[in-house]
Formats: sequence, structure tokens, C-alpha cells
Amino acid sequence: MNAVVADESGIPELSDGVVTLRVFQRADAADYAALNRDPVNVRWANSRARMTAGEAEAAITGAIPEGWSSGHTRRFAIVDSAGALVGTTALHNVGQGSASLGIKLAADARGKGLARRAAKLMADYAFDILGLAVLHWHAVVGNTASRRLAEHLGFTLEGTITGYSNVAGAPADAWILTLTAQGRLAPAMVVPVLRGDTVVLRALDRRDADELVANCLDPAAVQWTTVPLNYSRADALSFINDFVPKGWTGGETHTFAVADSRTDALLGTIDLHNFRPGSAEIGINMGPQSRGTGAAAAAAHLLLDYAFSGLALQYVYWRALLPNWASRKLAWKMGFRLEAQLRGFSDDRGMPTDAWILTLADSDPRQPQQPWDGARAGDAGSLGEVPGPQGPDTNEAAQLYAAKRRG
Ligand SMILES: CC(C)(COP(=O)(O)OP(=O)(O)OC[C@H]1O[C@@H](n2cnc3c(N)ncnc32)[C@H](O)[C@@H]1OP(=O)(O)O)[C@@H](O)C(=O)NCCC(=O)NCCS
Repeated sequence: MNAVVADESGIPELSDGVVTLRVFQRADAADYAALNRDPVNVRWANSRARMTAGEAEAAITGAIPEGWSSGHTRRFAIVDSAGALVGTTALHNVGQGSASLGIKLAADARGKGLARRAAKLMADYAFDILGLAVLHWHAVVGNTASRRLAEHLGFTLEGTITGYSNVAGAPADAWILTLTAQGRLAPAMVVPVLRGDTVVLRALDRRDADELVANCLDPAAVQWTTVPLNYSRADALSFINDFVPKGWTGGETHTFAVADSRTDALLGTIDLHNFRPGSAEIGINMGPQSRGTGAAAAAAHLLLDYAFSGLALQYVYWRALLPNWASRKLAWKMGFRLEAQLRGFSDDRGMPTDAWILTLADSDPRQPQQPWDGARAGDAGSLGEVPGPQGPDTNEAAQLYAAKRRG
């Protein structure tokens, strides 16, 4: 399975275990310049024959991050399993459901299957994470290695366009190939894993099943989320093996495990769902042991970086059933602002239930925007207090829930 890891910039890092696509760093400047000066890249990939390390650094600190923040050009460094920079790949003209995929490798990295791996990761990223429908590939006529690579990935030659590329400053004819989301070979689940100091968001795995069961049996999860009642190992496995992969490949739901970055143990889950143009909704369920530790806030920050920088969303919504004060307060800590309290807005296992709706825009500060005016833990008004590890056991939780349903 492919994995995607992002740093604090929110730019994903894609890996298949052999090749990793990551954000460019200043330290790559000399290698990036050398890669561009390579005569094969100059000939076929419009690279600059005289690029200096200074110019490469200017690109790494200027044009490349600018491309990410506009979302229009998404350029990655390709590194091998030893961490060496072996190439670069980019999506150009990203928008309106399509993009153009480009790649170039350093001379000594060619012929090892690395380009195919890197381009596959890019195609999966484009389709599964960005939700694009079509990818284009153009190669200067005569660049058979590039055309073959595209065809190996499932691209189909559409035709030749006169003067669409250029070589040595002059127009050159180009082969144009396309790949559609439906037409590609075996779609893979590409899962962003976002690394922070204390937590890592990564793909859920079968090894998480027991912790997931415990977290979903917890009374607060039963009360405030839509997890199935009497959550079983079979529920967990179906979630891990079926629901989550389908969400990623179809693009409807991006679910992550929240794991301890030191031990990799599962602490909870967090997701983006209800995608609409430019927005999505956040969902979070942290296990009782991790509540109050800051893990939820760390996970939410990583997810928000991914949503705004990685997916270029403009708004993230946070919805909490009333009166889930822990959830609302966490959202408040992240800078979300309360927009509305809507009667019966949420479907709580078939019952219309009142909800708080909070929003955060990409440019909003990630800190409280006004003093906290809600309930405080332990207040008489803090109904629905979230039980900690010593809270009621599972059966009690189900009974409590049933009593709540009966009103
Ligand atoms: C909601 C959830 C993710 C928050 O994570 P967390 O680790 O508890 O969050 P934090 O401790 O950082 O922040 C919660 C705040 O709410 C406060 N709080 C908790 N229960 C409260 C209550 N009943 N009344 C008022 N405040 C409460 C906490 O004291 C804390 O505030 P503080 O940091 O000022 O002390 C977690 O509690 C959880 O997973 N709950 C079960 C599932 C759930 O409710 N998911 C959200 C669905 S919208």
C-alpha cells in the first residue's frame, strides 16, 4: 500500500516503500541544480542547462512553494530509500478536474523502475486525493522513454501536436497522452500520513483493530459519534478493510489513524468527509486514554494543514451534537468560530438531534478568536460530561445511550 506523509507545511509525502515524494528542502539545492543541468533533462524536459545551486535554492524557497499555495503547480522531490534526491515530478495546470504530469530523473537513477514508481504515486495522488478526473502527459516527439513510461501507467496516446513543446528554445512537436480516473490500472489507496511532534496521522491498519474497538465502545464515542452500538472486532475490521479504503479511493472520506508518534499505538481516528467544492467536515474520535493530553489538538492541526495546504480547501466545518462541550471546546481552541446551533440538524442514529456548527477558513488564525463562553468541565451546566478512563463500562454506556434515546 502506498503511504503519504506530510510535514508541517501540509504538503503530502507519498511513498510506496521504495520511492518517496516529499517537499523540496533548501538542502536539495545543489542536487536539484545538477538534475536540471543533466543533458537528457535539458534535451527532453526543458530543463535549464546552466542552473546554479543559488537559482535552485531560489526555486525551492520561491516558485515551488508558491505553486503549492496557489495549488496550480505541485512539485515534489523524488528520493530513494537511502534518502537521496533522484528526481522531481510535478502536476502542472492543476484545476478544473485535470492536470499535466511531468517527471525527470537524475542520470544515475534511470533504468531502475524509480520513475514508474514515482509517476504511479503521482497518478494515485492526483486521482485519489485531489479527485482529478484526467491527467495529461506530453513528451517531445522522439522521447520514447517518456512515452513508454506513460503507457506503462495506462496513459493512451491521443495524438501529436505541432510545436506544443520546445527544445533548445525552438518549438518542438509533442505526443499527448491521457489517463482518466476510470481508465487507470488498479486504483490504489493512497493514504496521507501527517507527521507531528507528538502524533502521526497514518493509514489505519489491522493491527489497530483492538484499540479501535476499545475507543468505539467508550461511552463518549457512543454518545457523541455515529459508531455502531456494541462495537465489535468485526465492525473494526470492516471499517479498516472496507469503509476506509473505499473512502480514500472514491474520495468521499479521508480517514486517518491518529497514532502516538513514538510508539505508533492507535490513539484515535480523525477524518475529512462531506466534501463539497472547497470545503469538508472534520470528524474525530479519540480514545479515552488520550483525552486531555493535547493529542486531539495536535491531530486536528495536522489534519487542518492537510485540508488547507494539501487539498487547498477554503473552509473546514466542525459539527458537534449538543451538548458535546469537549468537542466544541477543542474546535474553539483550533480557532473555529461558532456559526449556528441548528435544531434537529444531525442524524443521530435515526433521530434528528440539535447540532453546533463551527467553521474555520484557510486564512483564519489557529487560536481562539474570542474568550471561552461555554460550559467548563465539572460545571453544573456541562451536561454530557465526557467520561475518562474511569467512566462507565460499555454496557452501561449502551444503556445510557438507550435511555437518552427513550428521552
Ligand atoms: C472531542 C474530543 C476529540 C476532544 O478531545 P480532548 O482530548 O478531550 O480535547 P481537549 O482536552 O484538548 O479539549 C477539550 C476541552 O473540553 C473540556 N471539557 C471536556 N468535557 C467537558 C464538559 N463536559 N463540559 C465542558 N468542558 C469540557 C476539557 O476540559 C478541555 O478543556 P481544557 O483544555 O480547557 O481543560 C474527545 O473528547 C473525544 O474523542 N470524545 C469522544 C468522541 C467525540 O465527541 N468526538 C467529536 C464528535 S463532534
